[in-house]
Amino acid sequence: MIRLFRPRWKQDRKDLQQSVSLQKDNIPQHVAVIMDGNGRWANRRGMPRVLGHQNGMKAVKRTTIAADELGIRYLTLYAFSTENWKRPKDEVDYLMKIPQEFLAIELDELVEKNVQVRMMGYTDGLPKHTIAAMEEAVRRTENNTGLVLNFALNYGSRREITDVVKKAIDEIGAGRFSEQDITEDWVSSKLMTAGLPDPDLLIRTGGELRLSNFMLWQMAYGELWFTDVYWPEFGREQLLEAVAEYQRRTRRYGGLS
Ligand code: FPP
Repeated sequence: MIRLFRPRWKQDRKDLQQSVSLQKDNIPQHVAVIMDGNGRWANRRGMPRVLGHQNGMKAVKRTTIAADELGIRYLTLYAFSTENWKRPKDEVDYLMKIPQEFLAIELDELVEKNVQVRMMGYTDGLPKHTIAAMEEAVRRTENNTGLVLNFALNYGSRREITDVVKKAIDEIGAGRFSEQDITEDWVSSKLMTAGLPDPDLLIRTGGELRLSNFMLWQMAYGELWFTDVYWPEFGREQLLEAVAEYQRRTRRYGGLS
């Protein structure tokens, strides 16, 4: 058992007072999060939606710290989907500024705390400033060996899988591959998550109960945890709650326990 009561990142010390007991040997290795409810959080307060996203950044910080403290190895955050372009231009423009804004404040500390920043998603369509901010974060943290903080930005699982299908057809067409070479491992190795274990736990905030085109292949046997809490209110307490629930589950992968 581990007892968690002390902050490791001093900025969030006041958030980290609570203690909880978890099994140390059953911490999910990879946690993925659909950060939903920013707009509704803002609406409830009579604020513009973008302020919900801005407050969502604070939740990203809190959750990163808590994940690191818990010993989670990979944290994948769904920051923008390939379908989010359908939103009003003002909101999309703001969402595209968020990585820059977040990293301008947090990157030095992420470097210092040994966090490795990664990005998965399509760069086509992303503004240059967004790509530049992410590339800088990836470059400056590439040798870090701690928590992997993986931002899914302009990511869509169906497009990702479709691309692998096209790649398989190309390989076979070029005679480099036969049909037998197309294995589940091969497909996994061509996805944007190549090198990362599949998520053990997926958290969705904001009360909706769906995957919204997020890691459909990778989540084949991942555990799902939903909460009504809006993303800007999410933090250590809710992450611990999710992990505690994860530890109560029996993972059978289609077999028997
Ligand atoms: C969904 O809430 C949220 C998003 C589409 C954007 C999530 C982005 C962040 C929380 C900021 C990410 C931070 C970094 C550092 C990249 P919604 O707008 O759909 O909420 P609603 O369902 O209440 O309308």
